[in-house]
Amino acid sequence: MAQTDVDLVILGGGSGGYACALRAAELDMSVVLIDKAELGGTCLHRGCIPTKALLHAGEVADSARESEQFGVHATLEGVDAAGVRKYQEGVVGRLYKGLQGLVKSRGIEFVQGEGRLVSATAVQVGDTTYTGKHVLLATGSVPRTLPGLEVDGTRVLFSDHALKLDRVPGSVVILGGGVIGVEFASIWKSFGADVTIVEALPHLVPLEDEASSKLLERAFRRRGINQKLGARFSGVEHTDNGVRVALENGEQIEAELLLVAVGRGPVSAGLGYEEVGVAMDRGFVKVDAYCQTNVPTISAVGDLIQTPQLAHVGFGEGILVAERLAGLPVVPIDYLGVPRVTYSDPEVASVGLTEAQATEKYGADSIKTLTYDLAGNGKSQILKTAGAVKLIAEKDGPVVGVHLVGSRVGELLAEAQLIYNWEALPSEVAQLIHAHPTQSEALGEAHLALAGKPLHTHG
Ligand code: NAI
Repeated sequence: MAQTDVDLVILGGGSGGYACALRAAELDMSVVLIDKAELGGTCLHRGCIPTKALLHAGEVADSARESEQFGVHATLEGVDAAGVRKYQEGVVGRLYKGLQGLVKSRGIEFVQGEGRLVSATAVQVGDTTYTGKHVLLATGSVPRTLPGLEVDGTRVLFSDHALKLDRVPGSVVILGGGVIGVEFASIWKSFGADVTIVEALPHLVPLEDEASSKLLERAFRRRGINQKLGARFSGVEHTDNGVRVALENGEQIEAELLLVAVGRGPVSAGLGYEEVGVAMDRGFVKVDAYCQTNVPTISAVGDLIQTPQLAHVGFGEGILVAERLAGLPVVPIDYLGVPRVTYSDPEVASVGLTEAQATEKYGADSIKTLTYDLAGNGKSQILKTAGAVKLIAEKDGPVVGVHLVGSRVGELLAEAQLIYNWEALPSEVAQLIHAHPTQSEALGEAHLALAGKPLHTHG
């Protein structure tokens, strides 16, 4: 049996694992990076990147469909699923190639194979044992289903299957109005499908500020996306042409496909974690604020731990672990300060606390909120997008939450993130001149108003 000794052995080559590998190599550590599939993981191959390519293709389709309102005569002849797929695969392929080159150039050994943790310092792949002074677990997550709901990959799909679909479906029921459900609803509606979302809670994207959820629901209603809110799924049966989805209230919905988007669960079963003594909680690996497990030589990052399941959280955690292992000073991540974007049309973006969370933390009398409607923002009017900026601040204190809804508002989050993380006062942001006409002006205007000196709004 062969043995390789290095500083760091990483199990899982997704966002968390490869970010740690890249930073560790930069810090002169020798690294082995192991993945059973392609380097890049869910985000690059089955998540963030391919879905955002589909969303962009959807935007192009909508632009053609709606061109008349801009005085441009264009007709949408159709969406060619194979053509969209080729575009999507081209994007993924170029990034994949770039990432492979990067990993190679940093001297990281990438091993493709099924790894298993066999000791506090070793991962085995086939006949080879990779031993490290440290081990990082970064095996990510997979879609979850509900008890008794079988996902067959042809009529009842997970997002992985949906991404590989060879056609635009005529109709779809989407189970779950969280991030994945909402993004696919947006994609398929743009491509011309009849879409119904079934969400058990009273709102879409229920983790967002309620005002954002309501704006998204209104925009989706205008787009003709059907929404069953506060509706619980009770079962699905196959019909001649697709599926019949039953809800607990007795309602039935027929469609060609059912997409199951009710959350993602950690990939940790059968990988040796428990046997080696790693503390777990319902399949998630338990870590402290520095991504350290109870086993001193083992760290864990990404969707495998109970932090927000976002690729950029994985990047941040991977970097933190590499720097900690290299002996650099590190500080815990403030997860509330991590930006969140749902890339539907319109987009929903936020950082910091929701109004409900801020009320709970500070008390209703100690916060103030301000909503600035994008109707007053020139660039948003040019783009013909509806939405709003909502700010939450401590009374006489810093901004503690920024919530945005509208086309392209995800790009405004960079500024919102600085405002939140630097604990900026509304008056400090109000000092900054924003370029006109941009959508970022909406942030500037909102802060001017919150600082008591509104420009283009009534006080
Ligand atoms: P999610 O947790 O965001 O949403 C699942 C939704 O399903 C919830 O709203 C839940 O109330 C609903 N649900 C659960 N059981 C149900 C039932 N029986 N009937 C009806 N509704 C039910 O999970 P999702 O959308 O699957 O995404 C998984 C993870 O991937 C999330 O943590 C998300 O943050 C991440 N992700 C992030 C993206 C982004 O940042 N743009 C894009 C895609 C995924």
